[in-house]
Amino acid sequence: MTDTTPATLTVRDNRDGSEHELTITDGAVSASEFGKQTGLALYDPGFTNTASCRSAVTYIDGEAGILEYRGYPIEQLAESSTYLEVAYLLIHGELPTQQQHEEWVHEITFHTYVHENVKSLMQGFRYDAHPMGMLLSSVGALSTFYPESRDIHDEQVRHEQIVRMIAKMPTLGAWSFRHAQGKPYIYPDNELSYAENFLSMLFKMSERQYDADPRLVRALEILFILHADHEQNCSTNAVRSVGSSQVDPYSAVSAGIAALYGPLHGGANEAVLKMLRKIKTKDNIPAFMEGVKKGDERLMGFGHRVYKNYDPRATIIKKACDDVFEVTGVNPLLEIAQELEKIALEDEYFVKRKLYPNVDFYSGLIYEALQFPAEMFTVLFAIPRTSGWLAQWLELVDDKEQKIARPKQIYTGERQLKFVPAAERWA
Ligand code: ACO
Repeated sequence: MTDTTPATLTVRDNRDGSEHELTITDGAVSASEFGKQTGLALYDPGFTNTASCRSAVTYIDGEAGILEYRGYPIEQLAESSTYLEVAYLLIHGELPTQQQHEEWVHEITFHTYVHENVKSLMQGFRYDAHPMGMLLSSVGALSTFYPESRDIHDEQVRHEQIVRMIAKMPTLGAWSFRHAQGKPYIYPDNELSYAENFLSMLFKMSERQYDADPRLVRALEILFILHADHEQNCSTNAVRSVGSSQVDPYSAVSAGIAALYGPLHGGANEAVLKMLRKIKTKDNIPAFMEGVKKGDERLMGFGHRVYKNYDPRATIIKKACDDVFEVTGVNPLLEIAQELEKIALEDEYFVKRKLYPNVDFYSGLIYEALQFPAEMFTVLFAIPRTSGWLAQWLELVDDKEQKIARPKQIYTGERQLKFVPAAERWA
């Protein structure tokens, strides 16, 4: 006979000896139940040990270095799937049939154009506007072009906005890139695949059709697959938090883009390139490593809040590097990166702290080889992450347990001061 007694946690309050019993469900106790019983709040800046939702989208085991989307290991998806198939999987929860796939690809392909006024809006930015600033504003602006998107409880309306956003993101991202270069915006080409079309809108000039090298197209697909979702990271939490007010999905996703804009989230690969440039030659590596161990430097692209093992995405990216460099020629910084990795993986400092390369250690090298300036790196992250954000947003909207996000605070300021009007204070 199996024991059906629910697992519980007993909390003893040593101030008065009272005891409280909390039910353990799915490895967690309810914070609100904890509060009701003990009268205490849980203090957790950065949600380091607070689950904010139940989610069936992405599974991560940081100790073992495992990442799965809807149960499928990332390695298998990166090897054999396409970004749009992965986006379907994230959004719908299961892989498409052949017919569903065809319809999905068709829908996405035929929603890549944006209203001409969006183009005018983007053209209004300063010549040197950061592409992420342009992307987050233009995605936010889409809510005004599709006011029906506010009807978030209508399944068909939701579906249309999801298709639009996944479809238009490469258009907006590519245009924000062209803008900084003073080059004309290139319209989408519906004859091309998702990744090919993005490359075309980025790099096409006067040729009739942009002809991307298939190895680069595949490398971009792989990078898109790897970045599609990563459970409750900062930007996904921003999408869920803003979405919990029941605002339209364009506004919620633009909040996610804003979060990704920050250097602690989307900017680490740029920091890796800066570090490699500073090290300059392999001979300087030992001195740099001494600085890291003394705490004067950080080995950028190493370590992760969740992964205490090899970030599975880093292994896949490392392989993609070879394919890209075969086309573009080797980035001279690669040699330094490889040597750094070799030394770090054998060094006691890194081994003891479980510091391994993360997804950003090699991605910047690929992006640079593909001719992207550093400001575009986060845009390249935001485009594929849109499917993950939207999958999480859909889950939020349908989740009866969700409420408007409203964390507690521990108030540390003054109380009950007496206000003296300005005329008296300044007299
Ligand atoms: N180089 C040197 N030492 C490091 C590094 C690093 N990259 N990362 C962590 N450590 C050390 C810390 O100094 C600390 O040592 P101590 O115990 O002697 O004080 C120990 O390892 C634990 O590190 P924390 O900072 O507590 O780990 P945390 O989980 O808070 O930080 C983070 C994770 C921010 C990713 C960190 O490893 C880091 O700064 N890495 C470099 C930046 C980077 O690559 N960020 C990209 C992350 S991936 C992404 O966001 C898509």
